[in-house]
Formats: sequence, C-alpha cells, structure tokens
Amino acid sequence: MSRKKVTVVGGGFVGSTTAQRIVDKELADVVLTDILEGAPAGKALDMMESGPITGTDSRATGISTGNGDYSATAGSDVVVITAGFPRKPGMSRDDLLKANYDVVKAVVEQIVKHSPNCILIVVTNPLDAMAQAALKVSCFPKNRVLGMAGVLDSARMSTFVAMECKVSVENVHSFVLGGHGDDMVPLPRYSTVAGIPLPDLLPKERIDAIVERTRKGGAEIVNLLKTGSAYYAPSAAAVEMVEAILKDKKKILPCAVYLDGEYGIKGLFVGVPVKLGANGAEEIIQIKLTAEENAALQKSSASVRELVSVLGL
Ligand code: 2OP
Repeated sequence: MSRKKVTVVGGGFVGSTTAQRIVDKELADVVLTDILEGAPAGKALDMMESGPITGTDSRATGISTGNGDYSATAGSDVVVITAGFPRKPGMSRDDLLKANYDVVKAVVEQIVKHSPNCILIVVTNPLDAMAQAALKVSCFPKNRVLGMAGVLDSARMSTFVAMECKVSVENVHSFVLGGHGDDMVPLPRYSTVAGIPLPDLLPKERIDAIVERTRKGGAEIVNLLKTGSAYYAPSAAAVEMVEAILKDKKKILPCAVYLDGEYGIKGLFVGVPVKLGANGAEEIIQIKLTAEENAALQKSSASVRELVSVLGL
C-alpha cells in the first residue's frame, strides 16, 4: 500500500508545524509549499532528518511555488491551506479579507489543477469566508471543502474547563459552533466532564468566564506573542481533521462546512458538528438548540455573511 499524500500550503508557523505533526504521526508523505525560496525545502529536510530519531518513514518535501509551479503537489489526498497574511497595523478587517482572498484564490486554482480529487482544509483567516472562497474557486462538491476552527476553539474551551475543574483534559469534551470570530458559540450544555454536562458541575459565572475566554482565545495568544498568532493548537486541530479523513474514522468534529439549510442557514460556511471520513464532510449532525443558543448561532453566521458579501461570494 502506498502512503497517502498531504500538501500543506504555506510554510509559516502553522503550516510547518502541521507538516511536522503529520510526519511525526506517519500519517502521510508531506509536501510543504511556500512562495519563499529555500525555506520550505530546508524545513522539510530538517523534518525528515528527525525521522531516524522519532521513528517515522514519512517523507517530507519542501517546494517553492514562487514561480507558480505546483506540479510537486500532484495527486494529494488532502491539502491544508495555511497561506495568507496576518493582520498588520493599519490594516482593516476588510483589507485582510481581500488580501487573503487573493492568496486563497490563487492557491486553490493551482491545487485543483494538480489534485482534482483532494479534500481541502482551509486554515487561513478569516476562516469561514476563506473556506467559502475555496469552495467557489475549486468548484468542488461541498463535502470536499472544510474549514478548521471548531476543533481549535473546542480544544481551547476544554483546556480552560480542565484547568477550572482540575481534571485531565482527557475527561473533557467541549462543543463550540458558529463562525471563527468573537461571536463564536461555545455550548456549555453539550460540553462535559466525564459525561457530566458543565451546567451540572460549575456555577454560571465560572461557565460564563470560560465561554468568554474561549471566544477571545486567539487574541489572548496574539497579545502574549506580540508578533504572530497561535500555531501549536491550530496545527494540532488541523491534523486531527487530516487524520480523521485519511483513516476514514467517521469522527464527529466541529468544522466549518457549507450549510444548505441545516440549522436554518443557507449558502454559507459556518462551524457545526460534522462526520469526517474518507469522503470529507460525510454528514452534518444537527443537534437541538435552545432558542438562546440558536439566536447566538444565527448572530455568528450573520457576521460570516457580512464578510462573504464584501467578497461578493
Ligand atoms: C486563532 O484563533 C488566529 O485564528 C487564529 O488563534
């Protein structure tokens, strides 16, 4: 059996850490691309040279796509797109939106030429709008375009719950829906510690504090790092999705997918529970929401729709 192939587009911290985790877990051979010359090749070779120590035979290759040549990515099973600009001082949200739309559009056009059957996982921000752009540009069926955010946001919530309850993170299961923005929707009722729902375990004000910290989880890291944003947890989250797909695990994870009426939302990428397997998003799981939870989800999706409409998608 030949090994699977994953391309990671963008050799920054998120992209290179994603590639490293895939190699370390021996999930696939990895092609790491960047517009820079030399850096992706250097990072990939460095990863390969850790193989004799960590015991992985996955191959890593780094290529520069500065010349527009994506042929080395051909035949990828999964492509993770991390390329894009971080927000710089003086840049509005819309400026970032348009700049990253141009990046994602150019990347997706090339990727689909060489890997017409791949599953796309978009990581570039603003996440939900970029996933919508990737779907439109690729002309792929909606099951083959996913956005990574819910796994990350849920992991952050689980971390805070485990800290609060002083229990193993393995006991905690959290659920965060909605767009990957400040009005994302953590769901305490569906978040559990050893199967016990959070509202049965913690007072409301502690839950509210966890919800708030989760919503601002990305900004908390940005403020600490000063330059750049999170990459350990984002890459771990992307790799959980890659693994579920490559191993056809049928694992239910919160992912951004194109909704076509589910949750009362039509024609928009929003984070919801999704069954991930070899065919990508194989099923959207619809859970029952209270009126309040539903209102929060609709509010979050309205924010995504605003971004998407700026791009005319
Ligand atoms: C994060 O949540 C910036 O979206 C990135 O860390």
